[in-house]
Amino acid sequence: MTQRLRLGVNIDHVATIRNARGGDHPDPVRAAEIVASVGGDGITAHLREDRRHIRDEDLARIQAATNLPLNLEMAATEEMLEIALRHKPHAACIVPEKREERTTEGGLDAAGLHNQLAPIVSRLSDAGIRVSLFIEASDRQLEAARRLGAPVVEFHTGEYAHAHLDGDEARTAREFQRIADMAALAADMGIEPHAGHGLTYENVQPIAAIPHIAELNIGHYLIGEAIFVGLENAVRRMRQLMDDARPSPGSGLVE
Ligand code: PXP
Repeated sequence: MTQRLRLGVNIDHVATIRNARGGDHPDPVRAAEIVASVGGDGITAHLREDRRHIRDEDLARIQAATNLPLNLEMAATEEMLEIALRHKPHAACIVPEKREERTTEGGLDAAGLHNQLAPIVSRLSDAGIRVSLFIEASDRQLEAARRLGAPVVEFHTGEYAHAHLDGDEARTAREFQRIADMAALAADMGIEPHAGHGLTYENVQPIAAIPHIAELNIGHYLIGEAIFVGLENAVRRMRQLMDDARPSPGSGLVE
């Protein structure tokens, strides 16, 4: 039976706006509470090496504010590992990080970085933290995730989102197919596929309709929309689009 698709809301950019003035408003904790109140399934936050948005002290505050699972996005460094082990989030999504990039621009090279990632994946897993690897949808990276024993992968949907934005239908279809095929392969391997990056009201539905994908993590667009319609309404609308793309169990429309 088709599973319900979870929505994790990335609240980093509430902190980006807060940090623009150096004070404590707007507070990402309040955003987390709103996400919880409208039925979001999780909070995602990326503690970057340069602390450009989420800060160390936000993590415990976010965890204390709601019962939603926290998905901590982190670079594969000793510093971040130590922070993750201290906070014990529900999940840790290992992402590539370059100081000069505007956002996480590509997937993690899980294949090339096996030796660096292996001890980090096992120490997080030993601490009961569900490890996810943020990878491109390719069989090479998926196979590397399998060798590392990661229970979850998150497919980087940035290329799909760019192709969609460019109005390039053939490229959008190719990128979509790559994600759909790799989601099916991940499920066959016993790895739970998630997806995220650059998802919007306009491009979310084909991705939401991929039956094996269990979770979407969406941030920048929702926080941007929240400026105009409020975070409650933005999350509700995204949820509705996801539900429309994938009829929920019990609606009679699923196999
Ligand atoms: N998933 C991961 C692993 C990410 O790094 C990001 C961006 O921080 C997102 C999802 C959310 O992407 P966006 O902000 O473009 O929705």
